[in-house]
Amino acid sequence: MGAYADLHRRSITDRESFWAEEAQRIHWHRPFDQVLDYSRPPFAKWFVGGQTNLCYNAVDRHLATRGDQPALVYISTETDTEKSYTYNELHDAVNVMASVIAAQGVGRGDRVLLYMPMIPEAVFAMLACARLGAVHSVVFGGFAAASCAARIDDAKPKLMITADAGLRGGKAIHYKPLVDEAVRLAKHPPRHVLVVNRGIDKEWQPVPGRDLLYTALAGNHAGAQVPVTWLESSEPSYILYTSGTTGKPKGVQRDTGGYAVALAGSMQHIYDGRPGETMFTTSDVGWVVGHSYIVYGPLIHGMTTILYEGLPIRPDAGIWWKIVADHKVNVMFSSPTAARVLKKQDPAYLKKYDLSSLRHLFLAGEPLDEPTHRWLHDAVGKPVIDHYWQTETGWPILSLAPGIEPAQVKYGSPGFPVYGYDLKLLREADATEAGPNEKGVLTIAPPLPPGCMTTVWGDDARFVETYFRTFPDQLLYATFDWGVRDADGYTFILGRTDDVINVAGHRIGTREIEEAVQAHANIAEVAVVGVADAVKGQMPLAFAVVRDAAKVATEAGRVAQEQEILATVDRQLGGIARPKRVLFVTLLPKTRSGKLLRRSLQALAEGRDPGDLTTIEDPAALEQIRNALLT
Ligand code: PRX
Repeated sequence: MGAYADLHRRSITDRESFWAEEAQRIHWHRPFDQVLDYSRPPFAKWFVGGQTNLCYNAVDRHLATRGDQPALVYISTETDTEKSYTYNELHDAVNVMASVIAAQGVGRGDRVLLYMPMIPEAVFAMLACARLGAVHSVVFGGFAAASCAARIDDAKPKLMITADAGLRGGKAIHYKPLVDEAVRLAKHPPRHVLVVNRGIDKEWQPVPGRDLLYTALAGNHAGAQVPVTWLESSEPSYILYTSGTTGKPKGVQRDTGGYAVALAGSMQHIYDGRPGETMFTTSDVGWVVGHSYIVYGPLIHGMTTILYEGLPIRPDAGIWWKIVADHKVNVMFSSPTAARVLKKQDPAYLKKYDLSSLRHLFLAGEPLDEPTHRWLHDAVGKPVIDHYWQTETGWPILSLAPGIEPAQVKYGSPGFPVYGYDLKLLREADATEAGPNEKGVLTIAPPLPPGCMTTVWGDDARFVETYFRTFPDQLLYATFDWGVRDADGYTFILGRTDDVINVAGHRIGTREIEEAVQAHANIAEVAVVGVADAVKGQMPLAFAVVRDAAKVATEAGRVAQEQEILATVDRQLGGIARPKRVLFVTLLPKTRSGKLLRRSLQALAEGRDPGDLTTIEDPAALEQIRNALLT
């Protein structure tokens, strides 16, 4: 048996001793009494009784040995700035931020909502919350005010932190007015909003009594030292909202000790990074990849992490490779969409820079098509490792583990089950295990390993109902992905089993988009499906039935309505959810019992056969869809 297969087997058959060993990778203020408490399935508590702190492990623990090593390198091609913070400097900055946050009455268990661009203060704020035992909830800066308000009402934060503006491709994105609007819409607004003033938006106005200016307060708190708040391992570290089948996003709750242990191990076994080396993850702090592998993972492992604010093709398509060469990046983590964007650029950019420091390039977040995988592999000349995971798990589910065994890449596959995950591919019909090359639903036999979500924030019942009820007779965590395993044990992901779509690596529920479209006054009914897109993987496409048909009777009318509806989605959800097109019909294809024939709709939109239509209520609906697609 290979070294990796052996490790995986041990992680399942000898679960507690395996994780007890892994737990030695982090600092425990008080040792744990019990590795795992699984007395209340499917709720798992890891490292019971142990006390630790994410900020301590990410920052303080390294001061004695690597205080002068860069911890965070901020590179912005938007503002042409580059600034490096050593571990000592990061420690100072985090303490100042923690002191400012604590002065607002924020402490253990209190929520802090961050709506921030990719600036160092976002990292300081996350770490500062962790230091204080406060629970951060980072909301991606692309979400609209209404989405942000829904998250405020769910998390009920004491404090929000934002900036005047972000920048994208040289264009200012005004964060502060959006936060003002979100706070106005929220039923449980925070008492204060802390604003990091970057000086990009010269017009923003503080709300008296509510808004606090970070730059001014940081001066008052200069030199502050804030003691670490030790948390019991299972106490929450953060909430991160993600989409599912319903319109209401779920707050994925993460623990403290299990997460730190899982990340620490993954940095070595999977990412094959070494303390003192440099990691460059091209995601955003608003996503799970940013939480785990821009902020916590590399820092817990004593690496230098790169925080990049900018586009992959500006000033030119060589910028990422320039960063790799300039900073001798050893581990890089990006997304298939980014790879497809780069593939369309001049290949000379990839040859221009010395990439010899790079050991592996990891991609995740959406299916990686084989041509792109091959292209990138050849272009970079280093193993390109596709790996698969979810916001819920916080770290990889399927991957190769080059830290343990050299990577044998099979194009199109994210590899093998990661240690700690007892994966089962089950036949949908009868929940029996699928054989080699047979499609099944990818599930995880609980207990979920350390680092995975512990519950849905504020809603234990929803956690169980959502994730553990796919098969009535077996308690199994559903990933909501289809998979297939080949004879060599490589797993391939075949797409979602639910109505979640993946747009440029961003996970969006079609129900959420439908609700956003429905906010437009002239919409009677709408169906949103994901259609294949050569660069973004998928794009939403909306089929709408309007109340007042006269408004879409002419071409000019249709264009105007479409624009209005797209603007409504922008306002409700944000530009990342904007449909590619809105097509107008008077009838949607439904079964006789009124269920939308979503898969048929999607098949038609992708030019495929619509499948079994024996249950359709009115076949005329299909003709309408076909005609609309021709327009
Ligand atoms: O459908 C799978 C897809 O993205 C979903 C998780 O998205 P998110 O919660 O945003 O977390 C991303 C963390 C990397 C999965 O359920 N997905 C993720 N990685 C892959 C993937 N699909 C195919 N191949 C992958 N490597």
